[in-house]
Amino acid sequence: MNQQTNIAVFASGSGSNFEAMLREETLLDKIRILICDKLGAPVIERAERYRVPVLVLQPSDFKDKATYEQHILTRLKEYEISWIFLAGYMRLIGPVLLQSFAKRIVNIHPSLLPAFPGLDAVGQALEAGAEQTGVTIHYVDDGMDTGPIIMQQHVSILPGDTKETLTTRLQEVEHLIYPETIKTLIKQ
Ligand code: GRF
Repeated sequence: MNQQTNIAVFASGSGSNFEAMLREETLLDKIRILICDKLGAPVIERAERYRVPVLVLQPSDFKDKATYEQHILTRLKEYEISWIFLAGYMRLIGPVLLQSFAKRIVNIHPSLLPAFPGLDAVGQALEAGAEQTGVTIHYVDDGMDTGPIIMQQHVSILPGDTKETLTTRLQEVEHLIYPETIKTLIKQ
C-alpha cells in the first residue's frame, strides 16, 4: 500500500479555506487534486496559482449521482488519495465515495453543529438571535452536516454584527483551525 498521504480537496466556490491549506508547506506537498463541481468557480484559479491539478466535473453531465461519483473515484484511485477534505463543496456525498473513504472524508461548517446545519449557517445564527456561533470540523456521513464532530471553536456574535462581519470573523478562525486539524488527522 502507498505509504504517502495524498489529499484531495472538494470545493464549489471561493476556495479561501483551500488556499489556507495550500499556504501550509506540509499540506501543499500532499494536496494532489482539487475536485470542483462548478465551471468558473474562483477556487479553480487558486489551484492553478499553486499548480494543483484540477478536475472540474458538472454533475448534470452524468446520468446520476452514482455515475458522477464513480468517475471521481476512478481519478482519486489514480492519485492514490487517502483523505478527502471538503472546503465549501455544496453537495451531499453519496454512497459511492462514503463507502470507499469511510472516516476519511472531513468537512468544515460555519456553526456549532448541530445548530444551524445546511445553507446560510451565518444568516441562520443571526436570525435566531444567538450570542455565540462558531466553526465545526466533522467527519462526513450521509446526512447534511450530521457526521461525528472532530473539533469546534466558539465565535461570539457581537452587537451590530452583519452577515459580512460575522462571516469574516468565522473565516479567520476557519483558516487557522482547518489546516491545523488536517495536519493532525493525516498523522493517524
Ligand atoms: C466556509 O465557510 C465553510 O465553512 C463552508 O463553506 C465556506 C467555504 O468558503 N463549508 P471558502 O470557499 O473556503 O472561502
